[in-house]
Amino acid sequence: MPHPELHFTSAPLNETTADAVLLALPPLDASLFESTSPDGDWPAIRTALEAVGFSGAPGVFQRVLVPGLENVPVAVVGTGSAPDADALRFAVGAGIRSLIGFDTVSVIAPGVTGNARALAEGAGLGGYRFEGYKADGAKKRAATVTIHAEGSDEDLRVAQVASSATALVKDLVSIPAEWFGPEDFAQRAAEVVSDLPVEITVLDESDLRTEGYGGILGVGQGSDRPPRLVRLDYAPEGASRHVALVGKGITFDTGGLSLKPASSMVGMKYDMCGAATALAVLVAAAELGAPVHVTAWLCIADNMPSGRAIRPGDVLRIKDGTTVEVLNTDAEGRLVLADGLVAASSEHPDLIVDVATLTGAITVALGNRHAGVMGDDAAVAEYLAASERAGELAWRLPLPPHMEDDLDSPIADMVNAKIGDPAGGSLFAGLFLQRFVGRASDDADAPRIPWVHLDIAGVGMNKGGGYGFTEKGPTGATVRSLIELLTGQA
Ligand code: BES
Ligand code: MN
Ligand code: ZN
Repeated sequence: MPHPELHFTSAPLNETTADAVLLALPPLDASLFESTSPDGDWPAIRTALEAVGFSGAPGVFQRVLVPGLENVPVAVVGTGSAPDADALRFAVGAGIRSLIGFDTVSVIAPGVTGNARALAEGAGLGGYRFEGYKADGAKKRAATVTIHAEGSDEDLRVAQVASSATALVKDLVSIPAEWFGPEDFAQRAAEVVSDLPVEITVLDESDLRTEGYGGILGVGQGSDRPPRLVRLDYAPEGASRHVALVGKGITFDTGGLSLKPASSMVGMKYDMCGAATALAVLVAAAELGAPVHVTAWLCIADNMPSGRAIRPGDVLRIKDGTTVEVLNTDAEGRLVLADGLVAASSEHPDLIVDVATLTGAITVALGNRHAGVMGDDAAVAEYLAASERAGELAWRLPLPPHMEDDLDSPIADMVNAKIGDPAGGSLFAGLFLQRFVGRASDDADAPRIPWVHLDIAGVGMNKGGGYGFTEKGPTGATVRSLIELLTGQA
């Protein structure tokens, strides 16, 4: 497993048989230290922490020697004062991420009650390890984490499933594009769901041609590795609602003939993050047995320049018949998603969420830690509430009707990009996608299907150093919010 196995225990800490102990603690001035607790000798711990200058600030990590616990290595991680669920998830995540070289770890957050699930999630997320391709192996994080807290089986199951869904995204994104083309991705999706009550359909190049998926075909036509559209369906009996997830799965984004500069192309193996997220969230719903019908559409293509690639000025016909003049072949995500949104809409789900590393502009607007959210009011509100419960950052952006004119083309129904004007690049992309969201029924005046667009180009990859449970590299951001949206209390 790429993340630790999690357990709860009611045993006191001094009975631990783990290889190391992690204490999640607030600043020393907090009231916790003014009393002794049945779990430990606080005056002694306080003296040990004062000796190393432990501040208790969120995520601060230190190894310490605690009198009375000499037989087991001890580390402390700061939670900040009066930590809530988010602060505890962050702290335990930072601690488990930083604690290298121990197979089993016991975690305790003294004085904390009622946040067992957050503690477990922190351990599961922070304990992620990608085995990687280094000759001397990966950093060794804990294989088993025991949390000394009163948690339910349900808490444990949810934490475990959320951790493994997040790990799945990180695993898939980390694979070099050379070894993970469209066909590999489709095959891997089939493997991942093989033991679950999930139906999978893979459309290959000739199926895509027969069925008129011009966006996916156009983007993929420059590559020696032809595109795929994967439909995954989890339809439990008595499902209350049908949610479609549409993911951008560009296995590598060179930009195509509108070639990216060398430095911008680095990391573009992660342009399939959205499709990996859609897959992982569907898997999580199936593993949890959530009473909701989930369909995931993975729009998978390799964006390469070649003698067969689409050129700026070429016109593609999307599945619904809409024609698009491709002014910039690097604005490819919206082209594959257009086909995916049309396909998803044809089943009239109650909600469509698309997930995509869509625009560099989203990082200009929101930085690297907030997912960009666009779409219909009620659906956006539902997503934002879910992300709040999950403890993931997200921020809404508008879809301004006055920008619609920018989509006009003199020769086709629309263009795929504004040329020479970067203003509102993420909003333009959102407006483009909105045109492909279908109606709630076949009736021509039925309202549009409620829709949310998530631009994860900023949050999908952490280019900086690690913080909290987040390591450098792919983050799996939005996975837990989407699981929460599907399963949580609205
Ligand atoms: N995959 C990129 C978006 C991206 C950029 C993700 C940087 C992560 C980091 C997307 O396909 C793209 O190239 N978008 C263009 C759009 C433009 C040509 C209108 C961009 O953002 O520059
Ligand atoms: Mn691109
Ligand atoms: Zn892209």
